[in-house]
Amino acid sequence: NSTIFSGIQPTGMFHLGNYFGATRNWSDLSEKIKNENINSKLLFFIADLHSLTVPQDYKQLQEQRLEAFASLIACGIDPEQATVFYQSQIPEHSQLQWILSCFTGIGILNRMTQWKSKANLKSNATIEGSGELGKVKLGLFAYPVLMASDVLLYNATHVPVGLDQSQHLELTREIAEAFNKQTKSGFFNIPKTLLAPSKKILSLKNPAKKMSKSDPDVNSKIFITESPKEIRKKINKTVTDSIEGKITFDPINRPGISNLLTILSAVERCRIEELIPKVENFSKKELKELVAESLIKDLSVPSSKYAELIKNREYLDKLSKQGTEKAREIASKNLKEVMKLVGMA
Ligand code: TYM
Repeated sequence: NSTIFSGIQPTGMFHLGNYFGATRNWSDLSEKIKNENINSKLLFFIADLHSLTVPQDYKQLQEQRLEAFASLIACGIDPEQATVFYQSQIPEHSQLQWILSCFTGIGILNRMTQWKSKANLKSNATIEGSGELGKVKLGLFAYPVLMASDVLLYNATHVPVGLDQSQHLELTREIAEAFNKQTKSGFFNIPKTLLAPSKKILSLKNPAKKMSKSDPDVNSKIFITESPKEIRKKINKTVTDSIEGKITFDPINRPGISNLLTILSAVERCRIEELIPKVENFSKKELKELVAESLIKDLSVPSSKYAELIKNREYLDKLSKQGTEKAREIASKNLKEVMKLVGMA
């Protein structure tokens, strides 16, 4: 019996990275489970508490939470099959975070790289290291412990994520092992990382960076709700290179072209090597046209589903209430066990 579990932050409309790295992959996994009659629990959630780790416009965040919830369903998650909910509606996440923070070394949190990039610090910065560090919020530093709590609260066995989250899942396993050992319990499953089949999707404007919700340049990313006209425009403006000749996949010397190939292979659900013979004699312009048209086709279902869903707040509220109820049942049962194990009940 497996439990597949993952989450996504609601800060900004989902982009191609979130889609291929997460939500479409979750939907593919769900489909496989349904078709093959696999006995597996599925839980997907909006990690809204995580969004508080960086400054937000709270009014806007409230809207974004709903948009994210609608997007999740629009991307193909079936709320009848999967439990879909908001993290903030389940107080057990924060309660478990406190317990698990008492099993987490500062040293290992210091080695995590994401909080540093979000605080604009170098990846080798440490707590003792720099004057700017005093301003880093405890929540941002402790973010991976909340993420571990999310996963362990449901005793997940598999966590499908993009590569950028795998460090946090390594930490999750370490925390689970520390807890199991110190409580002599073996209570937590040691969750496995399920990496998305697609490679990391990079910024269309600067392929040295990943495509990111927090990038202020809207031309660096394509949203799942983007119109065909915008998709064509943004793909057409994608930064590539001046290398002449055949189209090649070469992430180091040709990161922009390689990113377009990554996107195309994600759309087509095929390996990049399989694409090359089809596109190697294309011009860059022809490649861009092909990528744009295939994206337009692929995103047409999620974007029209989203347009319908977002008009129906009542329905979305009903779904999230249902999801909260189902999730809370598991969460409260597991938290009770944890509390017993640490002598609190
Ligand atoms: P978040 O919201 O940054 O991203 C959600 C998912 O999208 C993937 N992703 C990408 N994949 C490929 N290319 C990209 N450019 C790209 N950008 C984002 C991420 O790998 C992720 O799978 N901390 C998490 C949310 C979270 C979570 C959890 C996830 C909180 N608790 C528990 C799993 C389990 C986050 O900020 O993801």
